[in-house]
Amino acid sequence: MKVSAIAPANIAFIKYWGKTDANNRVPGNNSISMNLSEMQTVTTVEFQPYLSSDDITFQNEDAVYAKEKERISGALDRVRILAQTSLRAKLVTKNSFPKAVGIASSASGFSSLAMAALGSLDIRLKPHELSKFCRLMSGTAARSVPDGFVEWLKGSGASDSFAVSLHPADFWDICDVVCIVSSEMKKVSSSDGHLLAKTSPFYNNRIKGMKAKIINIKDALNRKNFSRFGRILEDEALSMHAICITSTPPLLYWEPATLAVMKKVIWLREKGELESYFTIDAGPSVHVICQAAEAARLSLTLSGIPGVQRTVVNHPARGVHITNKHLF
Ligand code: DP6
Repeated sequence: MKVSAIAPANIAFIKYWGKTDANNRVPGNNSISMNLSEMQTVTTVEFQPYLSSDDITFQNEDAVYAKEKERISGALDRVRILAQTSLRAKLVTKNSFPKAVGIASSASGFSSLAMAALGSLDIRLKPHELSKFCRLMSGTAARSVPDGFVEWLKGSGASDSFAVSLHPADFWDICDVVCIVSSEMKKVSSSDGHLLAKTSPFYNNRIKGMKAKIINIKDALNRKNFSRFGRILEDEALSMHAICITSTPPLLYWEPATLAVMKKVIWLREKGELESYFTIDAGPSVHVICQAAEAARLSLTLSGIPGVQRTVVNHPARGVHITNKHLF
């Protein structure tokens, strides 16, 4: 049976950085994110009896690396183990944003793959089981399963670490204006970056403060207190990058334009012109969070900064789901 699924990428307000169990991708702390409306992946899967190996195609991508295909085949192996089949799959996947812009596509990629592949073998998992299953392929993919605003619970280990929805997508219309500043693939993958986190002398301190930070940001989210929410998410981004910069070897993901966007966001806020807050993942692009009414003006202002190649305005979105728009 041919099945297609569509899934959003997500932006973390509280980051997943560091794992307690690297093989099973169990995070060192809970994290909180929002699904992104304009950064989505569609994946179509069909297991076919005449294939001797997986047939994997990326639509709209110039460069596809052997390593990426291997990781996808590895994800399909997990599905095969669950379904107790040795059938190989034809898989076509397409991002609504080019991978080369340096925005991680593993969250949307692996969650859409999991839902489509499981569906095509007629396996139905409960939402939290699907989130757990996606987590094994890429940690952030666990957060692309539930709708809207999401918390990924670290749990006590591999058996109970999954993501849940805190609020649906229409709970609060805040936007993520993504400023794309580089199209280079990053040199150190986030999977490798996670392994270095514990080498930072500040890592344990970060984990100690996490419980209080999560309570605080969830309270600000529940009350839709934008200023408080924004201050916490901006501090949090700097905290994650402080870990990166002080790891051995150090990881410095920022480019000059990354800093230029950060400075502009602070400047606009201090001048009382526009209130927004930045957050950054394991790459140079900056995600600027604002209230929906200001998204267009903010996007225009930020796209004028030298080094910013493109901006994309995202609203909160629902999680992974089945679509009938097949790619083959
Ligand atoms: C920096 O999900 O890419 O985006 O589990 O090894 O696949 P793996 O890592 P990945 O982690 C990226 C984490 C981050 C922060 C975040 O989104 O929480």
